[in-house]
Amino acid sequence: MNIIAELRDVEKSYDAPVLRGVNLMISEGESLAIVGPSGCGKSTLLNLLAALEPADAGEISVAGKSLIGLSPRDGARLRRETVTTIFQDHHLLPQCTVWENVLLPLLAGGAKPTADDCTRAGELLVRVGLAGKRESLPAELSVGQRQRVAVARALLPQPKLLLADEPTGACDEVTAAAIAALLAEAVTPESALVLVTHNPAIAAVCSRQMRLHDGQLEEA
Ligand SMILES: Nc1ncnc2c1ncn2[C@@H]1O[C@H](COP(=O)(O)OP(=O)(O)O)[C@@H](O)[C@H]1O
Ligand SMILES: [Mg+2]
Repeated sequence: MNIIAELRDVEKSYDAPVLRGVNLMISEGESLAIVGPSGCGKSTLLNLLAALEPADAGEISVAGKSLIGLSPRDGARLRRETVTTIFQDHHLLPQCTVWENVLLPLLAGGAKPTADDCTRAGELLVRVGLAGKRESLPAELSVGQRQRVAVARALLPQPKLLLADEPTGACDEVTAAAIAALLAEAVTPESALVLVTHNPAIAAVCSRQMRLHDGQLEEA
């Protein structure tokens, strides 16, 4: 099985050490849940994988490319072509409709969406249960619906590595489980999901669970 991402002895400190020697291999086809209490470093770990922050020490590679010393330009390219993050607070554009928000990652690349892109966007909106909300603005949606728009938007470019940072944090338990299941089901034999959550019930939708504890990853 091919490896999508690998971390070796990764360390990261801010005011205090956060990651103290993280080792992890993420394979194609895998959905991995990372659990741990607030403040333990889950978002930090995802930020390193998305090349949003540099590691202090250790090795990180994604899709065969080392992230150590990566230029900002190559980091942006990695996020455009390989790694997509769903943030806790969805980051939808308030002035854009649901439909526009879903197509946004494609427009941001400077391209015009193709007919195929639009077909897929339509299918994704059906899959997240928002087919009837295309023309709605984010403010007209519930919190759970907004998160589902963010899920559709993240899945449209078919990222090789999808990082989801507590994407269900603001939802009730039932909605949260449905969204997590949607993310896990979207994993293909060539892609992988890393889902960060403090909720073990949500983590259970993934094929593998790990815990971030004292700055290190252990089997959960
Ligand atoms: N940009 C930053 N500057 C300073 N400290 C940070 C920064 N990002 C995270 N931290 C600190 O690192 C620790 C881990 O944060 P975080 O990765 O957000 O945890 P989690 O996502 O598990 O709640 C916290 O103590 C947090 O205050
Ligand atoms: Mg966090």
